[in-house]
Amino acid sequence: MDLKLKIWRQKNASDKGKMVDYDIKDVSQDMSFLEMLDVLNNELVEKGEEPIAFDHDCREGICGMCSLQINGRPHGPDSAITTCQLHMRKFKDGDTIYIEPFRSKAFPVIRDLIVDRSSFDRIQHAGGYISVNTSGNTQDANAIPVNKDDADKAFDAATCIGCGACVAACKNSSAMLFVSAKISQFALLPQGQVERKTRAQNMVAQMDAEGFGACTNTGACSAECPKEISLTNIARLNREFLKSQFG
Ligand code: SF4
Ligand code: FES
Repeated sequence: MDLKLKIWRQKNASDKGKMVDYDIKDVSQDMSFLEMLDVLNNELVEKGEEPIAFDHDCREGICGMCSLQINGRPHGPDSAITTCQLHMRKFKDGDTIYIEPFRSKAFPVIRDLIVDRSSFDRIQHAGGYISVNTSGNTQDANAIPVNKDDADKAFDAATCIGCGACVAACKNSSAMLFVSAKISQFALLPQGQVERKTRAQNMVAQMDAEGFGACTNTGACSAECPKEISLTNIARLNREFLKSQFG
């Protein structure tokens, strides 16, 4: 396939940035999207030009590092996958592909397609943990009974990889789906009860402090989430936050 790529280039956080056109030829349908960008970068380096900076690590849909807004959609035109799992067979010869960073005030661009998602880390630091006794009296986890339905829901919430696609998909740049997943995975388990109230208050306060917008229930976050995190988690977050205000 021969493709036209329109890619966001930005030297640093203070550079204005612009879309730049690239032609790429003989792209195999079996390549992953990131492999296609690797090939383009090799060509740029051989010509003495700056390669395009983009985030990636595991390339297996696990780590949450890859991002990219592809033709206007976080993680591209497929469903329930990350950018690193997207393959070129989703495109056809002659296509024009727009490639941009995830856009949000709380995710400032560092360079080209890389954005700073440390706002998510700070939300996690505010409450995304549990207290565990490691003094030598650690309780056997199997000795704590957990209702199967709750365990399944907690596990589903825990599959969130913190990629930020939910924020990029939301017209308000809301981080509610991410925060709700992180709160739900603990609220549903006995191990998460000690910090339950402070967790809801502190993580929501940090989310607001980072400049994420409000949730207006459009559901774009869940529709574009590579892990299909359910909107029911946002309803749970709202309940957790409300309950934490009383006693
Ligand atoms: S909720 Fe989904 S889209 Fe948002 S950070 Fe987690 S995995 Fe990514
Ligand atoms: S590179 Fe790890 S999820 Fe895509």
